[in-house]
Amino acid sequence: MAIERVGVVGCGLMGSGIAQVAAQAGFSVTIREVTPELLEKGLKSIEKNLARLVEKSALNSTEREQIRGRLRGTTRLEDLAGCDLIIEAIVEHVPAKKELFAALDKLCGPATLFATNTSSCSVTEVATATARRSRFFGLHFFNPVPVMKLVEVVRTIESDAATYEELTRFAERLGKTPVRTSDRTGFIVNRLLVPYLLDAIRTFEEGLGTIPDIDNSMKLGCGYPMGPFTLLDFVGLDTTYYIANIMFEEFKEPRFAPPPLLKRMVLAGWNGRKSGRGFYDYSDPQNPTPLL
Ligand code: 3HC
Repeated sequence: MAIERVGVVGCGLMGSGIAQVAAQAGFSVTIREVTPELLEKGLKSIEKNLARLVEKSALNSTEREQIRGRLRGTTRLEDLAGCDLIIEAIVEHVPAKKELFAALDKLCGPATLFATNTSSCSVTEVATATARRSRFFGLHFFNPVPVMKLVEVVRTIESDAATYEELTRFAERLGKTPVRTSDRTGFIVNRLLVPYLLDAIRTFEEGLGTIPDIDNSMKLGCGYPMGPFTLLDFVGLDTTYYIANIMFEEFKEPRFAPPPLLKRMVLAGWNGRKSGRGFYDYSDPQNPTPLL
């Protein structure tokens, strides 16, 4: 079965990005959010991104209209019933994901594929909420979704091999580069990235350098697009803390344990760019200033 109609659940940062790239790639996309206000907010960010592409002449206005025409927002889960593939991008909370997939499992025909964009939950565990475990996968996108080329395509021990290949091809049809990986907490990227980010905080705690100096070291010394503290603020300190805790729980290795400073910052509500402060203050977004 060819994937043509794509459903996306969750119109936040990740869900709206996924819906945008799928519509740009020619798929018919239905995106569902729980409230009209949240749906509106997500659709507006897609509009803004498309406008930016038109400004840069990466799209013409006819193409923009065609993309808009392929994209439909809804607050009704029932509207996803006819999709070939549904990608979930809601909160990182296993019970919430299981409840959603159990409802979708009843609504959708047996041919519909399910995928979660989780970065830290067990795909195997979420799949148990459905009667289609062999057709249930992880599709892990990266922020900002329209820009980052990678998608981790995650299989479980129960996955059907041919369907997994089909989903890998789907990621290619989105214009992304898929990597095949299996359901181990953190997959490939976060398995490597999270200890690096946590080590950057430890490096600062040990007094090896200031926050801008550590950021510049990795930017200018290694060619990374962002230093670790800028990236921590970009990803969200709460998100990083949450993922690190799950990884520590899974592997019981000190390198995944969140440093005390990260915990204190999250407790204080310094969640990074989205909350206006993290390792940097974003009162002037064009000119972040270090806070510690
Ligand atoms: N949406 C759409 N497009 C965006 C964007 C966004 N939010 N942010 C930037 N862009 C586009 C810009 O329009 C620009 O496009 P152009 O080259 O065609 O003009 C391009 O990206 C570069 O943007 P800028 O010139 O404004 O800024 P930078 O050169 O600094 O690039 C960046 C911004 C792409 C975010 C770059 O800094 C980067 O790659 N940072 C690292 C991001 C990263 O590591 N992401 C992964 C996080 S981990 C994750 O998501 C996993 C999760 O499980 C935690």
